[in-house]
Amino acid sequence: MKPLYLLGLMAGLSLQSIAAEPPSPLLDDKPAFIASLIEKMTLDEKIGQLRLISIGGDMPRERILGELAAGRIGGTFNTVTRGDNRPMQEAALRSRLHIPIFFAYDVVHGHRTIFPIGLGLASSWDLEAIATSGRVQAIEASADGLDMTFAPMVDISRDPRWGRTSEGFGEDPYLVSQIARTMVQAYQGKSPAAADSVTASVKHFALYGAVEGGRDYNVVDMSPMRMHQDFLPPYRAAIDAGAGGVMVALNSINGVPASANTWLLQDLLRRDWGFKGVALSDHGAISELIRHGVAKDGREAARLAIKAGIDMSMADSLYLQELPGLVNSGEVGVGEIDAAVREVLGVKYDMGLFHDPFRRIGSAKDDPADVNAESRLHRKAAREVARQSLVLLENNDRTLPLAKRGTIALVGPLADSPIDMMGSWSAAGVAKQSVTLRQGMLDALGSKAELSYARGANITDDKRMVDYLNFLNWDNPEVVQDPRSPTDMIAEAVAVAERADVIVAAVGESRGMSHEASSRTSLQIPESQQALLRALKKTGKPLVLVLMNGRPLDLNWAKANADAILETWFSGTEGGHAIADVLFGDYNPSGKLPISIPRSVGQIPTYYNHLRVGRPYIEGKPGNYTSQYFEEQTGPLYPFGYGLSYSQFELSGLQLSSPTMARNGELDVSVTLKNAGPRDGATTVQLYLRDEVASVIRPVKELKAFRKVALKAGEAREIRFRLSENDLAFVNAQLQRVAEPGEFEVQIGLDSEQVERASFTLQ
Ligand code: BGC
Repeated sequence: MKPLYLLGLMAGLSLQSIAAEPPSPLLDDKPAFIASLIEKMTLDEKIGQLRLISIGGDMPRERILGELAAGRIGGTFNTVTRGDNRPMQEAALRSRLHIPIFFAYDVVHGHRTIFPIGLGLASSWDLEAIATSGRVQAIEASADGLDMTFAPMVDISRDPRWGRTSEGFGEDPYLVSQIARTMVQAYQGKSPAAADSVTASVKHFALYGAVEGGRDYNVVDMSPMRMHQDFLPPYRAAIDAGAGGVMVALNSINGVPASANTWLLQDLLRRDWGFKGVALSDHGAISELIRHGVAKDGREAARLAIKAGIDMSMADSLYLQELPGLVNSGEVGVGEIDAAVREVLGVKYDMGLFHDPFRRIGSAKDDPADVNAESRLHRKAAREVARQSLVLLENNDRTLPLAKRGTIALVGPLADSPIDMMGSWSAAGVAKQSVTLRQGMLDALGSKAELSYARGANITDDKRMVDYLNFLNWDNPEVVQDPRSPTDMIAEAVAVAERADVIVAAVGESRGMSHEASSRTSLQIPESQQALLRALKKTGKPLVLVLMNGRPLDLNWAKANADAILETWFSGTEGGHAIADVLFGDYNPSGKLPISIPRSVGQIPTYYNHLRVGRPYIEGKPGNYTSQYFEEQTGPLYPFGYGLSYSQFELSGLQLSSPTMARNGELDVSVTLKNAGPRDGATTVQLYLRDEVASVIRPVKELKAFRKVALKAGEAREIRFRLSENDLAFVNAQLQRVAEPGEFEVQIGLDSEQVERASFTLQ
């Protein structure tokens, strides 16, 4: 039986009137509905469903309608308006079996309203704020006719040379897993079928953040124990939360590209984890199997990918070209094709598209007159989330907050650069709608103080680097060089600074520097900006650094010379307002680092939860013949979980409800948090565990719980955590998740280093 909207379409009724009809009984039985559809499909129609096409990039718009009507496309991405999507859906519905397509896009940290980048969202340590960002993204994207987002991006990254560190949520499996779950739930809402939901396609499965040397697209070689313990949990959390899609990574894993990896896509993802959604390749990944050297040609690449479990091929035509021949020769079974088609149709079913293919596209009369209208933005939410994402790293002699009086000099190439506020992957965000720091400070100050401004430097004077960054965005070069000489620009900035009471310098990276294909060998702020900072320092005026960047940078000079440092990542559409809120004390900073900041590139990797060794370096003890670098202080410059406030928070009275935990038992940990400072504020209490002795080497400590707590000035509160045996479990040498009896140390702190300790025994 045909769905009602199709009968209606054939009878010439309008789609909207049909969508309102009650659905047919078969339509409400997903397996039966899909099975009956597959039965009717020709091989070509089935293969058509396995194609995910980038509009504009892979296929000119003129050709697309014909291909859609011929049933040769399953889904598309990179269109962002209902007006663009509607004719494509109508064309798909003209195909023989009238199967709707889905529309996807990279809505990673914002659709039209841009929220802070992943590292910024994670710095909030506030799952409610993160959920708000995800919900707004879903609401805005679905209102533009989108059904799926290629997000969340949950690749654990411990090597800041990797440009995509910016997109992820940092280095810690527990924190990133919590965020992964939160984001999937926020994107998919009550149900992925809801009109204001988008289906989450978690990426990049798997281990993309562990590419060798931080070089994008490179190889990953990792022990199974480490994978399961540290890198796989976030993907699993997203899948357990019901993510409808998985995007497969571009890297190889232990010698086999993820896109041809049967162990990864079948044994782990489907068999062990019970994933029921659709597996998408990343952009062009199937043809890349040839360059990985595991397929001699396109035919072999297609065979490997479909057999491994890639349901849809993104942005290449290999499935279309090669699968018919492979099926005819018997190398690929029709059953294998059907299995992939079932997932594609299944995800469309779950999106509600068989019930109403125009669920998110709506009718033309309701299309927004201006897709970028101010009224479509969620500025208030963006500002509130962005404020929480800012991390105060230094604040000597209470330099911050600044008084709203006198003259403030604002300098730096990032002080007034709208496009850089948005960070990479800014979806349908419009640069001119983002509030720069200059605008944010002007709005905060009104007529109370004077804000003088000078750019002071280009992002970089290295022409090669500028060309590269502009090549990444060749249709819209975004690193625009000031033609003046560096000397002239610095002189102007120094003159502005000399007339001011305090200097605010906005420095760091352009957004393209922390992006896909933007791996770096250095974590330095580019030399052009360093020269500016050195000149500003010489003025003797208080120097506040506002950092904008998508990866931990080398902050040695900054720490030694700046009076205050605020890490703002790329803070989004309302970033300028949010940063001004913190600079002037209208919001008390509460962010904490989700990633360690190393002292130097040579120290990478610098993650806090590293494994124990036989000769550990111990602070204050002679350092020879211990595991360390002899010419540099051991440990990060700023540790995981670190971040200051304008208040002082104190922890005391750590207590355990019992010295022992029974098997399957629980144990309560309590501690008193006091806001001993002069202002209301919030901080995050972090609970780490250390497993003293186990059958395999365990990390020095691991985050197991955290809570963001807001306290009034002077207020104290008891904070309670409940630990269960599950929190003590780890992956042993046989890859089983076990909790072994013995002693555990609880560490509670406001960062991962300064902690209170207490011990208990698991019986
Ligand atoms: C990226 C993915 C992205 C895809 C589609 C690829 O280059 O690796 O993260 O989702 O393009 O835009």
